[in-house]
Amino acid sequence: MSSIAGIPVRELAERYGTPLMVYDEGRMRAVMRQYAESFRSDSLLTAVAYASKAFLCKAMARLCAEEGLYLDVVSGGELFTALEAGFDAKRIGFHGNNKSASELRFALSAGIGEVVVDSLAEAGLLKSLADELQAPVHVLLRVNPGIEAHTHRYIVTAHVDSKFGISLLNEAEILETIRTLRSSAQITFDGLHAHIGSQIFEKDAFGEEIRKLFAFAAHLKNDRGISMDTIDLGGGFAARYTAEDAPIPTEEICRYIIGACEEANEAAGGFIRRILIEPGRSIVAEAGSTVYTVGACKTTPGRQYLFVDGGMSDNIRPALYQAKYDAFLDGKEDEPAVCHYTVAGKCCESGDILIDDIALPGAQSGDLLVMKTTGAYGYSMASNYNRLGLPAVVFAENGAARVVLRRQTYRDLLYLEEEETK
Ligand code: LLP
Repeated sequence: MSSIAGIPVRELAERYGTPLMVYDEGRMRAVMRQYAESFRSDSLLTAVAYASKAFLCKAMARLCAEEGLYLDVVSGGELFTALEAGFDAKRIGFHGNNKSASELRFALSAGIGEVVVDSLAEAGLLKSLADELQAPVHVLLRVNPGIEAHTHRYIVTAHVDSKFGISLLNEAEILETIRTLRSSAQITFDGLHAHIGSQIFEKDAFGEEIRKLFAFAAHLKNDRGISMDTIDLGGGFAARYTAEDAPIPTEEICRYIIGACEEANEAAGGFIRRILIEPGRSIVAEAGSTVYTVGACKTTPGRQYLFVDGGMSDNIRPALYQAKYDAFLDGKEDEPAVCHYTVAGKCCESGDILIDDIALPGAQSGDLLVMKTTGAYGYSMASNYNRLGLPAVVFAENGAARVVLRRQTYRDLLYLEEEETK
């Protein structure tokens, strides 16, 4: 029998039902502390912001606040959730390639800490809104350093044709954008932001990003007279999904980034004062597990299917990115693996496969299948496809669990319906 944070899986399933998302809260706190403690420098101010798109609810925002992290949001909805949780607006950064006027208004009125501007058009929009609302705001400009990190093509974000940021090759547009920002008395232009992709295993990709950003910042300062003091390197630190994954340990990647930034800053003349990182996945992925109940099993000429009571509606990552996961059958951890199963969900879609091929002991209807490392971009990308309700989410720590998001009911599925009057 396995447990999560000291609670037997069977007990969690009986108490809260399945499919169930369980987060080990202590594990999230531990990673947050590792980031906070190792992302420190003697010569630079540092900050760690949790990229809330990986998983957000009010309890998660509170956890970040308790652990002293900043928060990144990419939409009015994420911002609203964080504010409702009591998260300090001054510690929130607002990203995104197409923020609407109403989202920017909302952020400015809330007194957001920083807006990461993505384009010339957005700079113009932000300037007019900040001037109109007389709302002072700090701004970073997202640039695209043109780095190909080796990850799935849907999650690389800094190849030359990426939709995010302005390419360093397009200096004229960068200058125009900064000029627009600086023409507002409300806007303080702090510096540059980049994010080179997600689930990155190689330090070198970050090293290259750092060298390019500091060199470009020095060029803007020395040759174009644009001063700034901040560089934000984004997130992208990998998590371990299966035994084949070997992510760089948190302390190690933090030390590496700090070292590379200190060196690059010295080479650039030492004018950068503050650096930021924005980990999302690496904080929540491994702390999360999904508990499913096995229903039917079916044998076809080529496969042995094991069906579970969730699927692409609660985790679209295998279908969308061919993401690999590991899983085990609760109570059968010590039994030999005798079958190669294809773990499939219950959605009406042939691509609704959670694990393409996994060796497990013989499964029976009623067994609990625990899929590991589902804490990032699972619930946050979930849908109501086939009108399946979203699973409940619990936070577990030291043998105690609490529901942070209750299971969606049939009634909840109707909450947007306007009643028809005849
Ligand atoms: N900062 C920015 C500006 C980002 O765009 C992202 C992620 C992060 C930070 C956090 O990256 P992380 O540390 O989590 O890798 N849905 C995809 C991942 C998309 C990531 C988008 N941006 C997936 O399930 O793999």
